Amino acid sequence: MSNHSDPQHNSDPQDVLKVTAAAKREHPDPAEAQHPLPSGLLLLFGVIVCFAGVYLGVYHGGFRGNIYNESESTPDLLSSKKLAAPGVSQVAAELTLVEQGKAVYANCQPCHQASGLGIAGQFPSLVAADWVTGSEKRLVAILLKGLVGPMKVGDTVYNGAMPAWEKALSEKKIAAVVSYVRASWGNAAPEISEAKVAAAKKEFASRVDPWTEADLLAIPANAVLEGAAAPAAPAAGATAAKSAGGSGAVDLDAGKAQYLVICVVCHQPTGLGLPPVFPPLVKSEYVTGNPERLIAIILNGVMGPIEVDGKPYNNLMPAQGAVLTDTKISQVASFVRSSFGEGASPIQPEQVAEARKKYGSRPAGWTEAELKAFPQ
Ligand code: HEC
Ligand code: HEC
Repeated sequence: MSNHSDPQHNSDPQDVLKVTAAAKREHPDPAEAQHPLPSGLLLLFGVIVCFAGVYLGVYHGGFRGNIYNESESTPDLLSSKKLAAPGVSQVAAELTLVEQGKAVYANCQPCHQASGLGIAGQFPSLVAADWVTGSEKRLVAILLKGLVGPMKVGDTVYNGAMPAWEKALSEKKIAAVVSYVRASWGNAAPEISEAKVAAAKKEFASRVDPWTEADLLAIPANAVLEGAAAPAAPAAGATAAKSAGGSGAVDLDAGKAQYLVICVVCHQPTGLGLPPVFPPLVKSEYVTGNPERLIAIILNGVMGPIEVDGKPYNNLMPAQGAVLTDTKISQVASFVRSSFGEGASPIQPEQVAEARKKYGSRPAGWTEAELKAFPQ
């Protein structure tokens, strides 16, 4: 009764342990099932994605193609985080036109030299040269189209050729390099904004030949380029230089907008008028001449026979004094003078205020005889 030997029930407990230990060592049979990612890994990925998102959010730079272009970009563009108080720091962080121009001058250096002094007899000096520090319009014209033939620089006549840069350099780079040469080596002329270069490029778009000295001298020395107050352009230097010049900047873009609303109906977009009904503003002494007279015309209108550019008119121009403020009149008059009047000087709101005091109460428009009585 004691010695049963049933293999089923007589197993040694040690054997059982051995078997289960072996079973425990085995990996379970592979089976089709979905196991969740380990949570630690998930957390790590989550952190990486968040970091990447934030990084891109801060440094996307507006996804601009030129963001790493040293002359077209600024640290401010790269980071949407404002570095400090906006305004102050933004101007400080941005390279001025003059600073950018130094790099662009590498194009000019082979001929005009690092000193700006050129090479006597071959390449003229840019130092204390009228062409550089004088008329901004002539200077930009030279850069855009190049130069040929004899030209007097200082007391020396050069007879060479200077390449055109319109195709090789962007408007911004041309603005930068002319601003740089105007502010270097003792030159101290105000900088020229990108908007002005753009305006000149448009104006001279149809010209293919390089300039000769005579062509350049035909551009009035005091011609101002449009875009003086374009919001894209101003850098601290330009504004400072302008106010130092005594006359505030008149917003020619605003003047153009007034012109296109008010005057355009009669004087046309081209300023050529519609002879024999509406006189032209182009080639008109009333536009280029005495500023006070032009203001008076806009304030009170014109009536009766009047000769403009050799043709007679006999019609009526309505007074605009009641409709337009002093500032608006100064803007539209400045625009008309700069665009149709061979770049005659801008007109300030103070000049309009003064004229309004004198003529504001005049009941009727001006006659030709009265206009002729203004000093030229
Ligand atoms: C290949 C040589 C060459 C290069 C490069 C060159 N210039 Fe000139 N530049 C000349 C010559 C030659 C003249 C005189 C042309 C003439 O005699 O008609 C001149 C004339 C000028 C003048 C008018 C005269 C004066 O000295 O004031 C200006 C301004 C000027 N260059 C600016 C520049 C600027 C800015 C650059 C660079 C973007 C440049 N030039 C690049 C050869 C060059
Ligand atoms: C309703 C049509 C009309 C409008 C609008 C008008 N003008 Fe005139 N303008 C005339 C006419 C017509 C004359 C000539 C009057 C005459 O025959 O006596 C004239 C004359 C002039 C003259 C002098 C002659 C000349 O051609 O140089 C100037 C300058 C002038 N206008 C500027 C302006 C300006 C700037 C504006 C916009 C602020 C303006 N005008 C708006 C019709 C208009």
